[in-house]
Amino acid sequence: MAKKQKKEKLPKIGMLYLDYVLRFFDKSNFRGWPDKIETVTYHWKNDKDRFVREVKRKKIDILIGNIPATAYETFREIARALPNVQFIPSLDTQFSNKSKENVTRFAWKYDIPIPKTYIYYDKNKADKFIGDTKYPKIIKKSYGPSNYGGYFVHKVDSKQEARNLLAQKKYHPAYFQDFVPMEADVRVMLIGHKPVCAFWRRAPEGEWLTNTSQGGSMDYMNVPKELLDLAVSVSKSANAEYWACDVAVGEDGKFRILECATAFAAFPYIRDWIGQYLMWKFSKGRFPKPNIPLFNWEELGKMDPSVLRTLRYITFGKYTPSYDGAYFLDKKVRETEEGDMYLHELDSLYPMLLTEDRTKEEWPSEKWNFQDNYGKTIRKVHAKSNPHTPVIEGDESEESEEITESTIILTEKKIHKLLMSVNGIGKKKAEQIMDKFDTTEFVHALETAPHKIMEEVSWFKKKFLTKLMKEWEEFKAKL
Ligand SMILES: Nc1ncnc2c1ncn2[C@@H]1O[C@H](COP(=O)(O)OP(=O)(O)O)[C@@H](O)[C@H]1O
Ligand SMILES: [Mg+2]
Repeated sequence: MAKKQKKEKLPKIGMLYLDYVLRFFDKSNFRGWPDKIETVTYHWKNDKDRFVREVKRKKIDILIGNIPATAYETFREIARALPNVQFIPSLDTQFSNKSKENVTRFAWKYDIPIPKTYIYYDKNKADKFIGDTKYPKIIKKSYGPSNYGGYFVHKVDSKQEARNLLAQKKYHPAYFQDFVPMEADVRVMLIGHKPVCAFWRRAPEGEWLTNTSQGGSMDYMNVPKELLDLAVSVSKSANAEYWACDVAVGEDGKFRILECATAFAAFPYIRDWIGQYLMWKFSKGRFPKPNIPLFNWEELGKMDPSVLRTLRYITFGKYTPSYDGAYFLDKKVRETEEGDMYLHELDSLYPMLLTEDRTKEEWPSEKWNFQDNYGKTIRKVHAKSNPHTPVIEGDESEESEEITESTIILTEKKIHKLLMSVNGIGKKKAEQIMDKFDTTEFVHALETAPHKIMEEVSWFKKKFLTKLMKEWEEFKAKL
């Protein structure tokens, strides 16, 4: 009797987690993987060596997960200490997750259209630029522990406004863009360079910010082919297993990338698709490639988000021309610059592709970590001086999230304790404040608009706020 052929051994997978950071994947996204999936959790604070040891001890071949901006540089070091471990997405692919500056440098390298951007580490150079340039301009915070949809994006109409803003905000580097009047922007999510979800985000009447968290609207219909093409080429440039880009549609009709990253909010069924794609990649075909038709989002998007949040493991049948009308791809045509096309024809132009496995570093920190390499004004983010603020990526809602959205999540108990640590705030007063805010809102207020607390709570005066902010900073430093 012939020997049964032994199945090729699968690589050992580990999930990369960080304390205080929401998990993008869990094991359920890898349903059907026959072997044990390990998990390794980074605890911040001088945890680099222990983390490396744990990965080695567990004999992990592939470590999967998003790395938040504040841990990015540490993880570049960790990846070097683990040359035989494949990070998915690679640290190079995650380069854009760290900061807007990195997105810009990535776009410059690959000739990706973006609003014209100017970055200055040198105050005098920034000042000279402010004096010489034309207005309006956009000023953004490039890197920061929290990124709340547009909160750190400002439009300035004159030198004076630009100077005042930077004097007040002290953003470093000074990051400017030409102001591009835009109709809307589109968030595109891709897996293996194939678009799997896309939706429009439109600014409220008379506003320029298209972030839906600021009251705009969203819809899924008729995303142009040429816009998807741009998103695909950006995903390819990043060699990304999964990817999201925000593409602005200018009033001039041009497409420009505003943001791109591997960390984004996605419904669970999208994360299942990513898991299936990765299992296909890692198993060299033993697991099937998921079949995810283009424009599926136009149909799924008709469902209420509360339903979309609960759907799991969505699969689609393959297109067969003879199976009359049973498949939506068969029925519809789409206008493109090259003429009308059936959806199934279009679908075939967007294959789901394998990413390349590379060993050479594309964005070594010695060269590309400007933020730490430049002067003393910025604190180093190496393993020994750990990031102050853990961040949390994504959530399960799809209406308001930003790419690399980050929120610190605290329990009510912790917030209660924090409030009580302020002189003059006792149990009752702490409870009054917590009646007004849920935990997320409260952290959001602390990080982006502390005066909100004064507005909501009549007895909460400036002196409380000052003390609370001090406690908050200390609390974060201890995280
Ligand atoms: N150069 C620009 N010109 C005009 N509007 C812009 C520009 N850059 C950003 N915006 C608007 O500001 C929003 C937020 O900017 P973005 O770079 O995406 O930062 P955030 O991280 O806050 O989402 C965008 O969705 C867009 O509506
Ligand atoms: Mg944005």
